[in-house]
Amino acid sequence: MRASSAIGVFDSGLGGLTVFKALARRMPQESLVYFGDTAHVPYGSKSPEAIARYSTAVARFLAARGVKLLVVACNTSSAWALPAIRRAVKIPVVGVVEPGAHAALAATTGRRIGIIGTEATVRSRAYPKALSALARGVKSLSQACPLFVPLVEEGWWSGPVVAAVVRRYCAPLKAARVDTLILGCTHYPYLKPMLAKAMGPRVRLIDSAEETARETERVLADLGLRAPAGRRGRREYYASDAPRRFARLGRRMLGSAVGRVRLHSLDA
Ligand code: DGL
Repeated sequence: MRASSAIGVFDSGLGGLTVFKALARRMPQESLVYFGDTAHVPYGSKSPEAIARYSTAVARFLAARGVKLLVVACNTSSAWALPAIRRAVKIPVVGVVEPGAHAALAATTGRRIGIIGTEATVRSRAYPKALSALARGVKSLSQACPLFVPLVEEGWWSGPVVAAVVRRYCAPLKAARVDTLILGCTHYPYLKPMLAKAMGPRVRLIDSAEETARETERVLADLGLRAPAGRRGRREYYASDAPRRFARLGRRMLGSAVGRVRLHSLDA
């Protein structure tokens, strides 16, 4: 492993570009290789076995490309597959659940924390477990929001239809008077203004993308693997299916052009 090697970023699809963007902003000198498993997205409705199988295949591919650290940007994969990924590759692996839980605990005023995520992430109870492992007396409430991912991928980030869906999912969290809300899915940062409006000004929204970038920087520094400053890292993109669609939607989600997207099928 060398400091000049790239960081691998993995997601089930395009949503992990939120984490990619946060990493690029925080550490512009680092090279980044992104893999979107577009052949198998969404992971949020898959079984734990399938999530672990797909995730380890991507992790092996990125490790074989020589990345120095792997960021599992996908919450569903972080919730279900981190131990399997860590067994499969010999590089440091950073997930999004712990950084999100840490940030929520730093932000909460009354220890009432809401979590929104895919069905699989909510079913895993990964966030409530991480919260109670880090602090006592935390009350958490989780809400699956399965309609958010397709809305975001369609570019529906605001408007009356989205507002109605957001209000509906937020209602139980509001009723439970959570003071902090973890956006436990790659896609949800795009709905932040709508979520902020629905939850009200007193609720702190935790975007795990930013926290994960911070944690990645910390791990690299601890290992002496930070790329030297003063250069701009290279960016590479892979998709397991439909690379052109990836490039088109990725441009919208990243806010700037995605370079060439290479196709790499995970099917043997
Ligand atoms: N990337 C997934 C996550 O963060 C959302 C999309 C999916 O269901 O695969 O949980």
